Amino acid sequence: MSKADIGLIGLAVMGQNLVLNMDDHGFTVAVYNRTLARVDEFLEENAKGTKVIGTHSLEELVSVLKSPRRVMLMVKAGDPVDAFIDALIPHLEEGDIIIDGGNSNYNDTIRRTAYVESKGLLYIGTGVSGGEEGARHGPSIMPGGSPAAWPHVKPILQAIAAKVDDGTPCCDWVGENGAGHYVKMTHNGIEYGDMQLICEAYFLMANALGMSNAEMHEVFAEWNEGKLDSYLVEITRDILGYVDENGDYVVDQILDTAGQKGTGKWTAISALDMGIPLTLIAEAVLARCLSALKEERVAASALLTGPEAWFEGDKAAFVNDIRDALYASKIISYTQGYMLMRAAAAEYGWNLNSGGIALMWRGGCIIRSVFLGKIKEAFDKDPKLSNLLLDSYFQEEVEAAQGAWRRVVARAVEMGIPIPAMSSALAFYDGYRRARLPANLLQAQRDYFGAHTYERVDRPRGEVFHTNWTGTGGDVTSGTYQA
Ligand code: 6PG
Repeated sequence: MSKADIGLIGLAVMGQNLVLNMDDHGFTVAVYNRTLARVDEFLEENAKGTKVIGTHSLEELVSVLKSPRRVMLMVKAGDPVDAFIDALIPHLEEGDIIIDGGNSNYNDTIRRTAYVESKGLLYIGTGVSGGEEGARHGPSIMPGGSPAAWPHVKPILQAIAAKVDDGTPCCDWVGENGAGHYVKMTHNGIEYGDMQLICEAYFLMANALGMSNAEMHEVFAEWNEGKLDSYLVEITRDILGYVDENGDYVVDQILDTAGQKGTGKWTAISALDMGIPLTLIAEAVLARCLSALKEERVAASALLTGPEAWFEGDKAAFVNDIRDALYASKIISYTQGYMLMRAAAAEYGWNLNSGGIALMWRGGCIIRSVFLGKIKEAFDKDPKLSNLLLDSYFQEEVEAAQGAWRRVVARAVEMGIPIPAMSSALAFYDGYRRARLPANLLQAQRDYFGAHTYERVDRPRGEVFHTNWTGTGGDVTSGTYQA
């Protein structure tokens, strides 16, 4: 029997489509699934006529793989990954490679890389983005783990990945141990932010301007021809134009309670752990949480009042303002996302390539967009750019958009329309651009009640002081540390 180039375990939607993508590119793939019947179904149906080899045990799977063996896991994040790693190790030999392509938490991937390497094997934890369509025809792939494994999987992963216009694959080595899954997690956090911003634009047009789905469909179609050209704006255009067999808009039938599988939450938790003001993405996660309190909101809506104002003025101009507010907020979200990855690189000792990450996200993934090309250009101009907001292009864009951005946030507040992502993005911008914030008073408050001490503007950083504010306190001060 011909030896397979790679084995893949887990024939759910993503797994099956990755296998077919690999087969399209000339690779022989051996497959296994815990529910064995699915292996046979796959070969008889979707994989019929391909070179795919079906196997009915891990031993059989391993036995048909070329060396060094490459086994990719496309299984649910968490315990199933550890279970398959433990089940595979006895059948693998030194130098063989286990690849986890699921949405695993980067902390788990850091642990698993060390564990698998301790067994003489190599490990890759890779983000795979783009959903079913991406897996089948070209995902964005963000591999990290054991550097020695990369040359052995690079040909396969880069062959099946999405490509940008010049043919460059949206897949390159991200970094050691959990780096790949961290970048994928950040991608998902940014995805949450992009989706929330689009929903806020939709909510404003529907509730402030009274626009119909058909009118908003046209607006998103127009936006998708310009700077907001992106997969998420494109699908929003399609969703707002989608009617069922009765001529009803499906989007109006959908319950307004958002689900979440956790990657956006992990992103916000990581930001809090490292003290990074990831405000927009955190608000996007919390907006999903608030939406999930449907019964409470229905009850509260009967009791709590707010303005009933509708928009008065030039509606077309306000739609343009909403567009600009969306774009400016998007700049803030990606700025914060890159601040997070920069902090994580320092925390975990990864050497992340900021421009390379933008390129990996340029195609195939859920946040793919023309906008990411601008980020790539910014890091090409200055690979050591400390913050995207300091890049000339983004500075100019925010400068041009901030009038509209402020009008939108102000009018939304006046009309009682919640836009947590757009408004928190503006608050971040106004905070980040100020040399002085009100934390001097906050430090005084902390020192007053807890003797937590403070630094002075006229003394070197690190030198701390305490004031006996009441005249009755003692001179013992609290230790100073950051959470
Ligand atoms: C991707 C997506 C995918 C994610 C789904 C569900 O990059 O292809 O981000 O990985 O799991 O979008 O995510 P939520 O349930 O958290 O919205």
